[in-house]
Amino acid sequence: MGTTLLLKDRLVFFTNRFVFSTFYVLVPATLLCTYLYLLSLTQHSTTTTYHSSFSSPPPPLPSSSPFSTEKDKVYHHSCDYSNGDWVHDKSGPLYNATTCGTIKESEKCISNGRPDMGYLYWRWKPNECNLPRFEPLTFLQLVQNKHIAFVGDSLARNQLESLLCMLATVSTPNLVYKSANDNKFRRWHFPSHNANLSLYWSPFLVQGVERSNEGPYYNTMYLDHVNERWARDIEWFDMIVVSYGHWFLLPSVYYEDGLVIGSLNCPDLNHTQMDFYVPLRKVLRTTLSSIIERKRSKGKSEVDVIVKTFSPAHFEGDWNKAGTCLKTKPYKKEEKEVEGMDGEIRKIEIEEVENAKAKASEFGGFRLDILDVTKLALLRPDGHPGPYMNPFPFANGVPEHVQNDCVHWCLPGPIDTWNEIFLQIIKK
Ligand SMILES: *[C@@H]1O[C@H](CO)[C@@H](O)[C@H](O)[C@H]1NC(C)=O
Ligand SMILES: *[C@@H]1O[C@H](CO)[C@@H](O)[C@H](O)[C@H]1NC(C)=O
Ligand SMILES: *[C@@H]1O[C@H](CO)[C@@H](O)[C@H](O)[C@H]1NC(C)=O
Repeated sequence: MGTTLLLKDRLVFFTNRFVFSTFYVLVPATLLCTYLYLLSLTQHSTTTTYHSSFSSPPPPLPSSSPFSTEKDKVYHHSCDYSNGDWVHDKSGPLYNATTCGTIKESEKCISNGRPDMGYLYWRWKPNECNLPRFEPLTFLQLVQNKHIAFVGDSLARNQLESLLCMLATVSTPNLVYKSANDNKFRRWHFPSHNANLSLYWSPFLVQGVERSNEGPYYNTMYLDHVNERWARDIEWFDMIVVSYGHWFLLPSVYYEDGLVIGSLNCPDLNHTQMDFYVPLRKVLRTTLSSIIERKRSKGKSEVDVIVKTFSPAHFEGDWNKAGTCLKTKPYKKEEKEVEGMDGEIRKIEIEEVENAKAKASEFGGFRLDILDVTKLALLRPDGHPGPYMNPFPFANGVPEHVQNDCVHWCLPGPIDTWNEIFLQIIKK
């Protein structure tokens, strides 16, 4: 009884404090439509050709990698990669749409006619160290005989595709599994190193039903039930990379213990209106506890977990009423702070990982880490496809309506940096 009342008070508190101040201000209704569209895009099937520069598997690397410089050796144990600045770098990306066959059509910015190339020539410079360029061979060697699962939303897929493109410059992966129609579940195998990378679509991490054009306009989420579609495969994974957040901005109904505890922006339902911060926290808690529980019961299963922090969107202005991202240069670090909704989501993710670390401390060898990309992503309004999510959007002049993608990232592009940091985390 007392708990229920307390919970109610908290809901009212959150409703007053956040829903009306933060949520409606930061996510206007017109933007929501764009979100609905972008996040619901099913995945185009992509061709799977590679033009690898090696025709046979590369030889294994000696344990002290010739690719890492003295500089990384000094720094990679202690560096904070999450804060820094983007600096000019003339070396450019490791790959392009010709050398990598797995880029989603809507992220092939150059092939889709994006005219400016400047956004490709920036390097992330953490405040206290240097972030080494991605080393595909080192990565493959570290994940030899391992299986890494990317679990979550379309940014999990975006990051995996960046990784595949960079790895494909030295070793050709085979697509060994693909779900029937929508490509939401895929597995890639690198025969050269017997390494597997897989993708599990699960934008809430927990069990739920996504909103759709045919069904309800709102998501349904069961905050205390992990999504078995990925969780039942845990014993096959050596590492899980978790990415979620954007789907929580959409109208949703939340269940806990089999009962509705509230909903977000579903005015026609008679539920308590609540914001998404509590659900966002609970699903990560459910996810991490389920992984720890399963580890406890299986005893032997070794799985590391990396939680990628929220990657902010960059819709600006009012063009077509849904915003655009037309900038062609990064912000300087002092121009933008991680704050508001982006900062709140990131904070929740970090706190839940810290809580879970404490819970998991009895398990030796269980690694739980944060891949903190929020600041470096925030500074890159220039890294999204924008109108170039579709081929040549201005071929016949400026159309009345142009769909812009200011959530996902061009490939190649700044999302490649996430994998540079990911490699440093794996190296630790
Ligand atoms: C893609 O990269 C390859 C190899 O570095 C290069 O030969 C080719 O010219 C590039 N293609 C484009 C369109 O930039
Ligand atoms: C990776 O997948 C392949 C093909 O499905 C399988 O034969 C292999 O055992 C897997 N390896 C690892 C390390 O999971
Ligand atoms: C919502 O609650 C009001 C007042 O209690 C009631 O009149 C209405 O029928 C309810 N609507 C739904 C959809 O349950």
